[in-house]
Amino acid sequence: MAKFIIEGPSHLTGDIAVKGAKNSALKILPAALLSDEKITIKNLPKIEDVDLAIDLLEVLGAETRRDGDVLEVQIKEIKNVELNSLANKLRASIVFTGPLLARAGEVTFPHPGGCVIGAGTRPIDLFLEGFKALGAEVTESNGYYSIKAKKLKGAEYFFTTVSVTGTETLMMAAVLADGTTVLKNCACEPEISALADYLNRQGAKISGAGTPTMTINGVKKISAGIFTIIPDRIEAGTLAILAAATKSTLTMTDCRPAHLEILLNIFKKIGIKFEAGADYLKIFAPDKFRAYSIKTHEYPGFPTDLQSPYTVLATQASGVSIIHETIYDRRLLYTDMLAQMGADIIMCDPHRVVVNGPTKLYGRKLTSPDLRAGIAMIIAGLIAEGKTEIDNIYQIDRGYENIDSRLRALGAKIARLE
Ligand code: EPU
Repeated sequence: MAKFIIEGPSHLTGDIAVKGAKNSALKILPAALLSDEKITIKNLPKIEDVDLAIDLLEVLGAETRRDGDVLEVQIKEIKNVELNSLANKLRASIVFTGPLLARAGEVTFPHPGGCVIGAGTRPIDLFLEGFKALGAEVTESNGYYSIKAKKLKGAEYFFTTVSVTGTETLMMAAVLADGTTVLKNCACEPEISALADYLNRQGAKISGAGTPTMTINGVKKISAGIFTIIPDRIEAGTLAILAAATKSTLTMTDCRPAHLEILLNIFKKIGIKFEAGADYLKIFAPDKFRAYSIKTHEYPGFPTDLQSPYTVLATQASGVSIIHETIYDRRLLYTDMLAQMGADIIMCDPHRVVVNGPTKLYGRKLTSPDLRAGIAMIIAGLIAEGKTEIDNIYQIDRGYENIDSRLRALGAKIARLE
């Protein structure tokens, strides 16, 4: 199995271009199912999760043509309504259910896979409830689901837990339904607004995306056009944290600092200097910075996907930080590995750790349990003295394009061993 070897400590310097957002790409690909016309997707990141989503589209009948970061997709006819074993590897496969149901009136699928960060297998109750509210018939047998609705009907649905993919899936299911759907307590992530803007350009009637209440007036047909994937705010935020944690001066280009307000406001408070434009973010190597406690929250709150890099940053801050992970209950387990590297971290319960900094970190042998913890280990390895070895890097490649070569270009000593 491939692994990363990092020699630390490293101070990096230079510019790095941020790639298209994974969590936008994974929604526009299933959105292609809503129309029989050809969609052109630009700024597509080259990552494992996107490859899996394209494979899944092909299983369903898509013709695809990929050239660099541009992908053309056309699904003239849905050839299959069964999400096959690929769905087990990709949590975002659940998003395919909404457009498939809307266009084909039927979908069958296994419980979706992906990162092991939530309670047991990550729940899908909100999706099933939402589909039922829209008039679909839902049956389940041995972890396999079948959902049917000749024609979905507009309805009101309230999300008792805010869910990003839940919001996107029901929004797409409702686009071709009969009548009006009102979704309440929706997620407000920028990737949702980007998707809604695209669908509206193609004939959908969605209002309120980016706010907690969305109204969708069903239409008969959706066309297809060009969608340019927005910059990955999680990658940009991760690199900003990496710069501060390794005391490096780095400029992230092709990004949108406006999507990182919470992180940048924390940087101001703790003494990390930066310069932000409309499409770039420069972090100036800090000498020292203060501790600051965070609680993960839906957008525009502190993203759970930045919690692990931020926890590594907290090991280098002066003072005590409490990191409170409110979204997932298995997303702090990696902190045990930071403790093995020398961090002063105490786990209070599955949702909270206390970090006392600054501490020196030392290279260790680590295993990446999931995507975001994996990138945090890379940051820790760059801070640490000596050699850090990270196993199971498939979990990192799933979400960050060529991260090793891009960091090497900035001066990091990171090698990939196949
Ligand atoms: N939840 C339920 N029932 C459901 C769905 C979700 O209880 O039917 C719970 C989850 O267990 C969790 C909470 O709701 O506790 C929020 O989860 P959400 O549904 O918002 O997460 P998601 O849509 O599956 C997306 C991103 C995640 C990101 C979260 C939170 C995609 C493909 N994934 O997941 O990204 O952490 O929103 O912002 O968009 C990642 O990129 O590493 C990643 C995990």
